[in-house]
Amino acid sequence: MSAKANLQYKPKDSLVAALDIGSHKIACLIGRVIDDQGGIEIVGVGYQGSQGIKGGVIVDLAAAESTIRQTVNTAENMAAEAMKGYPLREVIINIPGVNARSHFVSADIQVHGHDITDNDVRRALSKAQDQVLSPDYELIHTIPVHYKIDGHEGIRDPRGMVGQEMEVEIHMVTADLAPLENMAECIERSHLDVESVCVSSYAAGLSVLVEDEMDLGCTVIDMGAGVTSIAVFQGGHMIYCDHVPIGGWHVTNDIAKIMTCSTADAERIKTLYGSAISSGNDENELIDIPQIGEVNKHEPHHEPRSKLIGIIQPRLEEILEFVRQRLEDNGVNNVGRRVVLTGGASQMQNITELAEHVLDKRVSLGRPKRLYSLPDAVSGPAFATTAGLLIYLAQHQNEMPAEIMASVTPGTLWERIKYWWKENW
Ligand SMILES: Nc1ncnc2c1ncn2[C@@H]1O[C@H](COP(=O)(O)OP(=O)(O)OP(=O)(O)O)[C@@H](O)[C@H]1O
Ligand SMILES: [Mg+2]
Repeated sequence: MSAKANLQYKPKDSLVAALDIGSHKIACLIGRVIDDQGGIEIVGVGYQGSQGIKGGVIVDLAAAESTIRQTVNTAENMAAEAMKGYPLREVIINIPGVNARSHFVSADIQVHGHDITDNDVRRALSKAQDQVLSPDYELIHTIPVHYKIDGHEGIRDPRGMVGQEMEVEIHMVTADLAPLENMAECIERSHLDVESVCVSSYAAGLSVLVEDEMDLGCTVIDMGAGVTSIAVFQGGHMIYCDHVPIGGWHVTNDIAKIMTCSTADAERIKTLYGSAISSGNDENELIDIPQIGEVNKHEPHHEPRSKLIGIIQPRLEEILEFVRQRLEDNGVNNVGRRVVLTGGASQMQNITELAEHVLDKRVSLGRPKRLYSLPDAVSGPAFATTAGLLIYLAQHQNEMPAEIMASVTPGTLWERIKYWWKENW
């Protein structure tokens, strides 16, 4: 049975909205569910350069709030017709990899020979959730990966089956509490509620991978500005997530420092002339690098392209080496031979070649695939996470912690978390 059998879809015609709070840009997508399998058509888009976010984390609430408000307004205006003039109320937001952590737990329950029901599954999940509770972090994903009934392995969906004892292995993801609260505060100040949260790399995977890749084993690397986020998929599920706290911003910063130019010029030069790997002619190709503090700004200052690539390549190699290390240290480097790179920083020329060399895997580039009417401007790899947030919201409701879902159904996720917190501590 396909892992799809376990998905829980938002009803047709629901409106869904995602806010991707990144170090480089903040993006908002509003969509409408158009079928019974959580298919989404985009009806509103807004994005702009972020302020008040560093390394994926909010460092200036007021600046972040103002950018969020403007971004949401733009998307709302575009979606006005579909929203029938109502303002946006709820959004799903991303949890940056730096604030998230994977946990693996298993739990067993007695089912006494009756047909296994949804409730039995929830009982097992809630028993497992108890094992990761802590006052310092919040549970954000509960993903059952394998079930066993009376010792028989490989069961993807136990509902309707009969046995005495059911065991479930679960991948749980937690988020650090303080940054999560800052994010929620920022969203609430923008007069929005947090309907759900999803770790960035998981969302990226949901939007760029095809079902076979998720099934057979594939690693997604979301190369952002401040963070490189990792998600490993197998058997249709995300089985591990992690991050390296370095991204495209560090590459730009290296260029600005070594070439003594402004970060704005470094960014432009990087995207126009950068490459992850040098080629034969780079020595002879000269690039004009405007110098900081130069009296005569119009006087050109030339450097060979090879020098630029000599700055970019080691930094990207470092990021990818760290990724490989994280995968190896956590026993997931041998899960499939495929890697999909996405995120804004994956647009660097020749990056797949470099990644194949460092990771020793088959590497391709990924961009958001699964949404209808996605405008060209937001169809690139930088919007993979944003698009995936909508997919998560429309199709994966049941991965939000079962306790929270079961104990209080009405209200926003944030209210449920607060309620749940009060009940449990
Ligand atoms: N053509 C390009 N070549 C290389 N790098 C690029 C290119 N276009 C954009 N980038 C880099 O992509 C990065 C932004 O990526 P993205 O929009 O995915 O980041 P983000 O989601 O805002 O950040 P994060 O997820 O790290 O918080 C920037 O560092 C930018 O320099
Ligand atoms: Mg991002």
